[in-house]
Amino acid sequence: MSNYHIKHLEEYFQVYRKSVRDPEAFWEEIAEEHFSWRKKWDRVLRWDFSKPEVAWFEGARLNITENCLDRHLATQGEKTAILFEPNDPGEQAQHITYRQLHERVCRMANVLKEQGISKGDRVCIYLPMIPELAVAVLACARLGAIHSVVFAGFSSNALATRINDCQCKMVITSDGSIRGSKTLDLKAIVDAALESCPGVERVLLVKRTGGEVTLVPGRDTWLQPLLDGASPACEAEVMDAEDPLFILYTSGSTGKPKGMVHTCGGYMVYTAYTFKNIFQYRDGDVYWCTADIGWITGHSYIVYGPLANGATTVLFEGVPTYPDHGRFWKVVEKHRVTQFYTAPTAIRALARESLEYVEQYDLSSLKVLGSVGEPINEEAWHWYNNNVGKGKSPIVDTWWQTETGGIMISPIPFVTPTTPTYATLPFIGVQPALMDDEGNEIKGNQVSGRLCIKFPWPSMARTIWGDHQRYHDTYFSTFKNNYFTGDGALRDAVGYYRITGRVDDVIIVSGHNLGTAPIEDSINEHPAVAESAIVGFPHEIKGNALYGFVILKETGEGRDRENLRREINQQITEQIGPIAKLDKIQFVPGLPKTRSGKIMRRILRKIACRDTADLGDISTLLNPEVVQEIMDESL
Ligand code: WTA
Repeated sequence: MSNYHIKHLEEYFQVYRKSVRDPEAFWEEIAEEHFSWRKKWDRVLRWDFSKPEVAWFEGARLNITENCLDRHLATQGEKTAILFEPNDPGEQAQHITYRQLHERVCRMANVLKEQGISKGDRVCIYLPMIPELAVAVLACARLGAIHSVVFAGFSSNALATRINDCQCKMVITSDGSIRGSKTLDLKAIVDAALESCPGVERVLLVKRTGGEVTLVPGRDTWLQPLLDGASPACEAEVMDAEDPLFILYTSGSTGKPKGMVHTCGGYMVYTAYTFKNIFQYRDGDVYWCTADIGWITGHSYIVYGPLANGATTVLFEGVPTYPDHGRFWKVVEKHRVTQFYTAPTAIRALARESLEYVEQYDLSSLKVLGSVGEPINEEAWHWYNNNVGKGKSPIVDTWWQTETGGIMISPIPFVTPTTPTYATLPFIGVQPALMDDEGNEIKGNQVSGRLCIKFPWPSMARTIWGDHQRYHDTYFSTFKNNYFTGDGALRDAVGYYRITGRVDDVIIVSGHNLGTAPIEDSINEHPAVAESAIVGFPHEIKGNALYGFVILKETGEGRDRENLRREINQQITEQIGPIAKLDKIQFVPGLPKTRSGKIMRRILRKIACRDTADLGDISTLLNPEVVQEIMDESL
């Protein structure tokens, strides 16, 4: 049989070689043997990175929810599909079986249909981590409506931008969210956003907090009564493999967020195949990814990948620190979790606390640990390995992106020997390349460069919604005939990859990608601000934190600095969200600029990182004198 489940290193190399030698034959076999299609493809792959154009399984027809739900009903309808662990440890966990999930998705799909949604419509989902979020995602997919999930921590402004960019007709939200000891009034945020979203016709509301809400007549409706009245059966829309499945926004280094478009067929095949291998999922396992479904990690590895494999996937509403720092481990013990997938920032936060929080729980069920979102530093890696994995559960350090849809570079546990801070080897079918500044591929080992991928893989994003030119310019113009990731990497003596971080103006804070431009735009809108520049600097828990250099207008000069700092952060919180707040704000007389007027972030970064021994040649700057002044007053 097939190469679906890889079990030892020799097999990995063998399958990898096969996947590179003849990608079409390789992916055809995987697609054929492990998924149900209404119609098979006419062609496995058509591609041209210069346009760029990529199509996998063209001509094939399917519905991803039939693969995630219907096909499991006959053999494991009573198995738990989603295990919901609420924020409050006193509230009962819910075991939602495949049969129940199927029914809930069908009911929700019927409601959406009644409310005017059909194939191709965009639906914005702005919900906390409750089962309805997964149900809403799958209900859209059932109908062929394109879901655009917006993380329910984004502000009304950020939400409105995303709703308008892809012209959503509907928003699915809740009265509020509960995370840790905080509740957030999501409905009020949606109301504020919709003041500038004329295209939204309907708002469907899930009740979660029981907080007061005002319904806008003709627009807002409680969801539950509609679900109760809906039929539990809903025929799945038959989709083309290349029809869009969803849009998910990610920050760019410039301008507005990019709506990455993922399609049905290739995305399904790749997320399912990577899930099976990278987590070595076996029947009976309980898999838990702590990400939010508002990010790509949640889309691919809480919802689609696990469900396509008939797995049990935990959906956690809360935060790692509530009611105390032992919550993750308490949940692992309670549900006998076998695979645990989280972010370095969470590990670092927990590693600061007493070991008792970990040691009081029985973690013997764990088999595989995962890390994603940013480079994991050596200290955090060892803490995770020693205290959570007890040295016996391999850590899969998985490198990938919103744009790649699925994991690209990662060890396969029990197969690939791991090395701290290394994502190790490319996954099956993935062909990475390191490039030098002249655009040439750097061959051989013990080298470093810019990380590209030189051949298509099934789950790559196909475009940016409404802006194919930007898709081309961002990813396919820097290195001819290559997808450029925006990351730097090194390849060591044995060919293992280590991701060294972003080489563009994206800063990763607590695993969230933040573009510098939108934050600077937000700062610059403050009436007292003339200009600003932000850079990242190392932070013990968040990985990076933001440092803002701000030039005030004359009118702002006399103002109280602390008040200004508060107002600037308040403005960022309102326009983007609290994750984009600045840790440090330094008021400066000027910003170092090149003669063509470009801000020299390289210098600001060094100042923020207190690494000013070698600033390089600054004599060519337009205003070299400003550098010393900024250094003298740095925070
Ligand atoms: C970074 C998250 C080092 C990287 C799935 C990438 C990582 C960006 C890792 C994408 C890792 C993600 N090691 N860096 N294991 N995983 N990154 O789109 O810079 O939210 O380009 O996707 O996160 O972030 P995104």
